This record gives sequence, structure tokens and C-alpha cells, in this order.
Amino acid sequence: MILVTGATGYTGRFLLPHLAAWGQPLRCLVRPTSDRGLLDPWPVEICTGDLADPPSLGPALAGVRLIFHLAHIRYTPALIACAPAGLERLVLVSSQRRYSRVPSPSVAEVIAGEESAQNSALPWTLLRPSMIYGPGEDRNLCRLAAYLRRRRWIPVCGDGRALQQPLHVEDLVEALLAAARAPAALRRSYHLAGPEALSYNALIDQVGTTLGIRALKVHLPLSLVLAGLWLARKTGLAPDLEAEQFRRLQEDKGCAIDAARADLGFAPRSLAAGLAQIYAKGTA
Ligand SMILES: NC(=O)c1ccc[n+]([C@@H]2O[C@H](COP(=O)([O-])OP(=O)(O)OC[C@H]3O[C@@H](n4cnc5c(N)ncnc54)[C@H](OP(=O)(O)O)[C@@H]3O)[C@@H](O)[C@H]2O)c1
Repeated sequence: MILVTGATGYTGRFLLPHLAAWGQPLRCLVRPTSDRGLLDPWPVEICTGDLADPPSLGPALAGVRLIFHLAHIRYTPALIACAPAGLERLVLVSSQRRYSRVPSPSVAEVIAGEESAQNSALPWTLLRPSMIYGPGEDRNLCRLAAYLRRRRWIPVCGDGRALQQPLHVEDLVEALLAAARAPAALRRSYHLAGPEALSYNALIDQVGTTLGIRALKVHLPLSLVLAGLWLARKTGLAPDLEAEQFRRLQEDKGCAIDAARADLGFAPRSLAAGLAQIYAKGTA
């Protein structure tokens, strides 16, 4: 039995067709509030539970040999506590956020989630993707593309030179599948990202080029953005925006993917190829 957590999320929807093709019994853990209709196309057993409520996880984990944990890495301790005896591989999706130097509880919880697996006796493999993009609502480049389509200028917080290394969701899925099977990946961690790191300025240009749009970048000093944010929060205009999001935008997010290439056969597509598949004129 294979268990997938986070199957109703963005990556999960790309992973499921591949797992269904394996032909092995497949189970998805979903919350009572999850949109289960998203799983209708696939032959999956649906098990209700909540990773924030460990006692609810027993039925989902019974008899499981392989787990793809796509829900947040902070829930790893709950999975470890309920892991069945015959578990052969626990594939965990963490995040490059663990390397952020911006102090934040969200960084601490990623590190704690990873360490709970690394300190366990379980057969884990840990993947740390960078920004994920792909077809549909990826909540990353699709938003940039939508913005560029609406306006021919874009505000950029800071100088825009910090490195990004977006990862196509199908390349992440290939790495997930390989991580479940590669003997060399046992109890190892891997950075996953696209083949090239580029500045945020260059990323805007590349998305724009794919869309046939040349956008003017308006650079705003971080101090000005943070002051504006403080004011917006005070007046209730942007209650959900956090200063750490803007501070993190100033950090380089490039990473080396050689270990994943060697052990997982990871061969991510170029950003130009990935963007063309999604945004080539008239297709998205
Ligand atoms: N997106 C990125 O750019 C990015 C970058 C680096 C790392 N990651 C990591 O990669 C993984 C996949 O990302 P994603 O963007 O595909 O995820 P996502 O779209 O945010 O989906 C999250 C999934 O986790 C489920 N979930 C959340 N809380 C849960 C709980 N308490 N119990 C059970 N299930 C729960 C959600 O279920 P519901 O349907 O009920 O909400 C949903 O299926 C995540 O661990 C994320 O942290 C993402």
C-alpha cells in the first residue's frame, strides 16, 4: 500500500497519475475539509484524518509500505509516531526555506520537521525543492505571468539581483518517484531545483519574453516597502502580508543539484523550456 499526504495540493495532483500507473494499491490522507473531488479521476482509497491530530492517522497508515509526504514537513513527527513496522520508504518533501537566514517560526519548523526524520530509525529520503512552477495555479510564476499580462510594469522589492532557481512540478514528480526506489537515496537529503539560477530581474524578463511582453521593472528600496507594509497593516489594507516575505525575496535561493542528478537521475528541464510549455502564446 502506498500512502500520499497532501494529494489534493498542487504537487499531489501531478504525482497521482504516475502512481496510479504503477498499479499498486494507493491511499490518500485527506482532511474532512479537503476537496476530495480532485481525487475522483484516480483509483485511490480515501482515508480521512488530519496530520495536526495524530490519533486520527492510524487507519491511513495501516499496512503502508511507502509514504509520499507532500503535506508540510512540520507534520513529520506525527507520521513518525504512527509509522507502521513494515515501512520501506518515507519520501519527505521539505523546502529550501530551511536555509533562509530571515528569522521566522516558519524556518524553525521546517528544520525541526527535517530533524525529526533524520534522527529517526525510519528509511527516509528528504527532498528540498525550490520554488515550484507548472501548469495551472502554481501560486508562483502563474501570478507573475498574470500580473505581467495586466500591466506593462512591475514593482520589484530591492535590486532584484537575488537568485531564483524555479523547479518544474513534473521534474519534482520524477524526483519523488525516483526517491521512492533508488537504493542510494536511503537516508539522504537532496536539493531540487531547475538547472539554472537566475536573478529575479532575469526571471521577470524570461516570463515576459515567453508571453511576448517587455515589462518595466520599478525597483523599490526594501526599507520603503517595509514602511509601506507597516502602514498597510496598521490600516488593515494588507493584513496577510508579512515583512519576512519581502526580506526573503532579497536572499539568494540558488542551490547545487548534483547529488540529485547522481542518485535520482534528476534531469530538470530548462526554465525556457518549462515556461514555453506553459505560457507559449495562446496556451495559458
Ligand atoms: N509550492 C512551492 O513553491 C514549494 C516550494 C518548496 C517546498 N514546497 C513544499 O512542497 C510540498 C508540496 O507543495 P504544494 O505547493 O504542492 O502543496 P499545497 O498545494 O500547499 O498542498 C498542501 C497539501 O497538504 C494538505 N494538508 C495541509 N495541512 C494538512 C493537515 N493538517 N493534514 C493533512 N493534510 C494537510 C492539503 O490538504 P487540503 O486540500 O485539505 O488543504 C494539501 O493537499 C509542501 O510540503 C510544501 O511545503 C512547496
